[in-house]
Amino acid sequence: MKLIAPSVLSADFGHLADDLEMINRSEADWLHVDVMDGTFVPNISFGFPLMEPMRKYCTKPLDVHLMIVHPEKYVERFCDAGAWSVGFHLEAVDDPLPILDLIKAKGVRTCLTINPDIDVKRLVPYLDKVDMVLLMSVFAGFGGQKFIPETMDKIRFIKAEIVKRNLPTLIEIDGGVNAENAAELFAAGADVLVAGSAVFGAKDPEEMIRKMKITA
Ligand code: DX5
Ligand code: ZN
Repeated sequence: MKLIAPSVLSADFGHLADDLEMINRSEADWLHVDVMDGTFVPNISFGFPLMEPMRKYCTKPLDVHLMIVHPEKYVERFCDAGAWSVGFHLEAVDDPLPILDLIKAKGVRTCLTINPDIDVKRLVPYLDKVDMVLLMSVFAGFGGQKFIPETMDKIRFIKAEIVKRNLPTLIEIDGGVNAENAAELFAAGADVLVAGSAVFGAKDPEEMIRKMKITA
């Protein structure tokens, strides 16, 4: 699969509806929604109040990426708020399984995420228990950072595991993705590319989304 998920973190929140309409018109597949709590990551983004307008104005699935401690307290509320998928960080919890069950019980797709300093092998036991894994290609917390090249080998490793076990699990990559590295990321085995600044910082965001899909 070759999907593009623009990250709303880089949108203009003063004109959010306009940016969401652009996403609706574009060839974007999902809208990536970055929720930061100021504790798991050294930044605060937004929470439930923005889920409402996003659900109202965005016709694309909302791919929620929780960068928060205690995701077990909030995953159900994000499901109820209209998330199409809910992901949280493996390193933020003791046992991800009961939290995945909370999301699954809501009929919402699950995603487990790791930061670049977490051993990718830690995802292996969960590959058959989630719909998607998200490999961070920058440290979670801020848009506009530089892609960490070591991510490529991690994608190939996880892809090989998924193929070997014939699993439907998707691989999502988040951080520093742009039109220059998109093709290489898809070729390595990524299914979903998140792009914040590359899309919203472009002169023509719709064209940039198209370009990222075509270069793939
Ligand atoms: C970073 C977020 C990313 C971010 C990506 O913590 O998880 O989704 O918005 O931004 P860019 O594409 O600018 O690196
Ligand atoms: Zn993200």
